[in-house]
Amino acid sequence: MATNLRSTTFNSGPSSTEADDEGVQGTCEDASICKRFAVSIGYWDDPYLQHLVRLSKERKAPEINRGYFARVHGISELIKAFLRKTECHCQILNLGAGMDTTFWILKDQDLLPDKYFEVDFPLIVTRKVHSIRSRPHLSKPILELHSEDTLQGDGHMLDSKRYALIGADLRDLATLEEKLKKCNMNTQLPTLLVTECVLVYMTPEQAAAALPAPVSLPVK
Ligand SMILES: C[S@@+](CC[C@H](N)C(=O)[O-])C[C@H]1O[C@@H](n2cnc3c(N)ncnc32)[C@H](O)[C@@H]1O
Repeated sequence: MATNLRSTTFNSGPSSTEADDEGVQGTCEDASICKRFAVSIGYWDDPYLQHLVRLSKERKAPEINRGYFARVHGISELIKAFLRKTECHCQILNLGAGMDTTFWILKDQDLLPDKYFEVDFPLIVTRKVHSIRSRPHLSKPILELHSEDTLQGDGHMLDSKRYALIGADLRDLATLEEKLKKCNMNTQLPTLLVTECVLVYMTPEQAAAALPAPVSLPVK
């Protein structure tokens, strides 16, 4: 599949450097700009991405556009299959979500799970929280499903009845579990984990450790 994976050099040791993390965080920009460009020339519809991502002046190669189309379409079909199978009585946990807009698109299609969670580095989440809070096109759909007039949370987090956006490092499992719990993740519901082009930026050990973390949350 054609993607433009940013080449990031990882430390061989157990801890990453800030420079490694900055490179990985930059992949959010790469992916979202490629998706925004593909949407702008009609590869698929996404009326929400324009509120989160600027349009790049630079054209992308057809291979890149087609690769992103296949990636977005494939993930979307898998998510819808899970939602149909569970009759939407489930949760979706999107790890390394970046500027993903699936929550808003599923709402338009009347296909929302009980709760949709997104996690990314605090720096990325802060940007997304700011865009959501300042753009009614993004905040209104969340508020329509919420029981209060304002969205809870701070710069690194946003929580509502059906949507939560959490700033956390996927390699820091204790903090991730604590934040998911605070946002009322229900460990008894079927939960789909989405990691779209994310685990590749972690060592195999870190990726393997991150995956079962939400499942190991104590049952409420
Ligand atoms: C290539 S981007 C993909 C973004 C989104 N899933 C998509 O497909 O548009 C990889 C994302 O994973 C996030 N990510 C990678 N490692 C992470 C970690 N250890 N903790 C939190 N987020 C991480 C990055 O910040 C970035 O947003």
